[in-house]
Amino acid sequence: MLESGKIPPGPEGHRFVGNLPEFSKDPLAFLTHCARTYGDIVRLGDRNFLLAHPDLIGTVLKDRASEFVKSTSTNGRPRSGFPEAMMNSEGQDWLTKRHLLQPLFHNSRIARFASTISERTEAMLQRWQDGDVLDVRREISRLTLGLVVSFLFDDEIGDGWRDVNAAVEGVMDLTASSVRFPARLPTPTNIRLSRSLRRLDRVIDDLIERHRAGLSHGMLLTALVGGDATHGHMRDEIATLLMSGHETTSDALVWLWHLVSLHPEIDAVMAREVSEVADGQAISDVHLRGLSYIDATVRETMRLYPPAWLTHREASRNCEIAGYQVMAGTALAISQWVTHRDPRFFENPMEFRPERWVRGSRSALPKFAYFPFGGGPRLCIGARLAMVEMILITATICRRFKLLPAPSESVRPRPALALQPLGVQLIATPRMTG
Ligand code: HEM
Repeated sequence: MLESGKIPPGPEGHRFVGNLPEFSKDPLAFLTHCARTYGDIVRLGDRNFLLAHPDLIGTVLKDRASEFVKSTSTNGRPRSGFPEAMMNSEGQDWLTKRHLLQPLFHNSRIARFASTISERTEAMLQRWQDGDVLDVRREISRLTLGLVVSFLFDDEIGDGWRDVNAAVEGVMDLTASSVRFPARLPTPTNIRLSRSLRRLDRVIDDLIERHRAGLSHGMLLTALVGGDATHGHMRDEIATLLMSGHETTSDALVWLWHLVSLHPEIDAVMAREVSEVADGQAISDVHLRGLSYIDATVRETMRLYPPAWLTHREASRNCEIAGYQVMAGTALAISQWVTHRDPRFFENPMEFRPERWVRGSRSALPKFAYFPFGGGPRLCIGARLAMVEMILITATICRRFKLLPAPSESVRPRPALALQPLGVQLIATPRMTG
């Protein structure tokens, strides 16, 4: 029974600024501390709660999803500069847009795309030489960007990848900085961001023009143009798909290779699996089922380093969660980082152990103890594509190279819009074959 006005426990916070200083300094540590100290629902501030238990997360993302909207703000910040995208829409508008995009992500289309994934990865590996110290993030992010462009547009953007990259970096810089000035103020970050967004606009306009001139026949543009999308909607949709489809996948892969480079025993099992399953053939969708240890390694990477580490919903009306009163407009923070590392659900949670996910040895987990792609109606539309990409890229790299940590390496996570791995430097060592 709900006690009227009962509010969840939480840190006191400072006068005027509440818990913002602690959150801004180290959001990952702060949120984890809150959940471990105060429990499954924590008051972070006025109308701002953290939900840390899988059942509560499932309630908000899935069971009672209609009572919560994707929040319009994160600590008062506008969520996105792309308001017309499906990702930032609500209600019937969201559903119409989701239906428009869904066919693009059909399993058969993803299966056909598998050979492109391995070919592009092979092309990247051609450039790697024995002993190279690789800036892995740069290498992989260029690869995943090229792939998402091909997947979405069946088209190339040539040097346009630099512009897309700059815009993604601009958005990440903005979301990682603790102090955010209004967009109209000419701060260096704002100037950089608006310059890179203008460049991104030009790339997108160019893609739309090429399509209208009959020079490309990609399914996304066909759907958008055929569905009478406005120019603003097209631009916002393309921008969010490019951004969400590339940074998250790239970050997960860089985390994976960082972790594997520290665990030669895991590297050895992966390499054995690839040689047994693909046996010298070009790696493609037919090998996916057999690559179960690599699949498990990808899953375990996203447990420890979830690219989407924080998600928000907002109560659209007064309601109740776990016996606490939640007023309309309350922001509900849900953090994959916090829940994926909860020792109640994962034994020795800090250990990197792909075996947790190997078929047969998987223990029963509460739903939403592990949710790297979210869940409920707003489940990531690109989840299958991302998994296929990550497994095939990992297998293709693994067959040709062993990656070892460079002595100069100093790795840290940067919790921006995605959880970025900074400072990963690995030495390429060709793997002996035969
Ligand atoms: C490892 C890679 C990825 C991760 C970890 C990831 C994670 C997520 C998560 C957690 C959500 C739900 C957010 C929420 O509930 O508020 C989401 C939604 C979404 N993702 Fe992904 N994603 C990945 C890859 C992709 C790819 C490859 C694409 C497309 C090319 C994509 C496009 C989207 C879109 C459009 C949505 C919004 C769905 C909706 O609101 O209905 N994502 N993603």
